[in-house]
Amino acid sequence: MNLAAVVLAAGIGKRMRSARPKVLHEVCGLPMLRLVLDAVRRLRPERTIVIVGRHEDEIREAIADAGVIFVRQQQPRGTGDALRQAAAALKGFNGTVLVLNGDTPLITSTTLGRFTALHRRNRGQVSTLSFIASDPAGYGRIIRDREGRPEGIREEKDATPEERSTTEVNSGVYAINADALTLLDLIRPSRVTGEYYLTDILGIAASRGFRTGVYCVAGESEMMGVNTGSELLAAEKHLRGRIVARLMDKGVRFLDPVSAYIHAGVRIGPDTTIYPNVYIEGASYIGRGCIICPNVRISGSSIGDGAVVRDSSVVESSTVRRNAQIGPFAHIRPGSVIGSGARIGNFVEVKKSTIGSGTKASHLSYIGDAIVGREVNIGAGTITCNYDGRTKHKTEIMDRAFIGSDSQLVAPVRIGRGAYVGAGSTITEDVPPLSLAIGRAGQKNIKGWARKRRGRQPKSGD
Ligand code: UD1
Ligand code: CA
Repeated sequence: MNLAAVVLAAGIGKRMRSARPKVLHEVCGLPMLRLVLDAVRRLRPERTIVIVGRHEDEIREAIADAGVIFVRQQQPRGTGDALRQAAAALKGFNGTVLVLNGDTPLITSTTLGRFTALHRRNRGQVSTLSFIASDPAGYGRIIRDREGRPEGIREEKDATPEERSTTEVNSGVYAINADALTLLDLIRPSRVTGEYYLTDILGIAASRGFRTGVYCVAGESEMMGVNTGSELLAAEKHLRGRIVARLMDKGVRFLDPVSAYIHAGVRIGPDTTIYPNVYIEGASYIGRGCIICPNVRISGSSIGDGAVVRDSSVVESSTVRRNAQIGPFAHIRPGSVIGSGARIGNFVEVKKSTIGSGTKASHLSYIGDAIVGREVNIGAGTITCNYDGRTKHKTEIMDRAFIGSDSQLVAPVRIGRGAYVGAGSTITEDVPPLSLAIGRAGQKNIKGWARKRRGRQPKSGD
């Protein structure tokens, strides 16, 4: 099948009141434009063109890996003018051109596939995808004649009150055969805004005897366009609901789906329980049989089967292996690997460190730039002093070592296999395997000191 796609993304998006280009605003962690392109890609178009404007550089950077052709629209003179810019990039193509707005993030490939199939089956030349809007404000209205045949699309600003009451609206998705693209030259600027409306192509085609079609194949929850902050939020809620429903179907258990904020690219295994107010972001992966407790944020990380992340913990760009336990109140910072069955307890911060399997750091510690072996015990209050004010240094703690509470390990330093560090030590030199290191001032007991002191004190009432 001969399909090309053009996504319009050169508008300024004034109504967002944001410095960021509208199509790069994110819905469930992905830019709207990316979501549209993901849906388009599944139809396998032979080429995909994105029309960009003033924000070209930002958009190119955000979707550099999408394999699309970028074409510049110099001035935002309307959607009709935007599509005209694609002419050179469509040279030699003679199939169906699927045109979409870059601000309809909820659209699915199933709907796009159905629409293009209808367009083809009816031998259409210019078709539009419509939907019924609960509130049609802001959308172009579909105008039909008495027999219900489409006559054209009327933009709200140009519509009569009667036309405005129509709830069937234009989704901004069109299928246009390459040989009908010359109709774009016939679009005249709007008398109200001076813009060239792509929507006019349907009426122009109909009046010139081209075969036109308007297909209403999906609901508002898929077709809505995002122009404002509150519409962005509405889209976010829809997509979030869709993501959670899909995961529930695959056996993930949610205690409160409404308060689970799961990004579009996240995968979660069956029998995992997600408590309320959990954020799982980026390209995260959660295995099967995990428990993710309330108020947890997991970002760009992988959590192995059977792991537990307890309340109010943060895991960023790290790997947590199977059956490990994190938190409550733990912070796993980027570049960390927590081994299987390891336990990182409350108020423990781990940064860019590898923690071996079965190792425990149960309370109040900082482990940074460290390599920690298997079955190590890290006592409460242990700190790796990794920074000398200029550079970061490594700490190595070998298998089965025991670090007594409240110790400071001044890096670079290595604690040998099976070695012990006495509580309260400041360790500045390597500790050989199986040794005991104590680095603290010896204790002195002064007998009778308290009694003497009391004797010196003035008695009360003097
Ligand atoms: C557009 C349609 C409207 C439809 C609605 C569906 C027009 C004139 N109106 O309205 O009928 O119901 O979408 O959501 O098409 N763009 C450019 N260059 C421009 C102007 C816009 O590339 O000069 C791009 C924008 O980046 C955006 C898309 O085209 O992705 C749509 O533009 P927008 O201004 O959002 O159109 P709407 O007013 O929503
Ligand atoms: Ca729009």
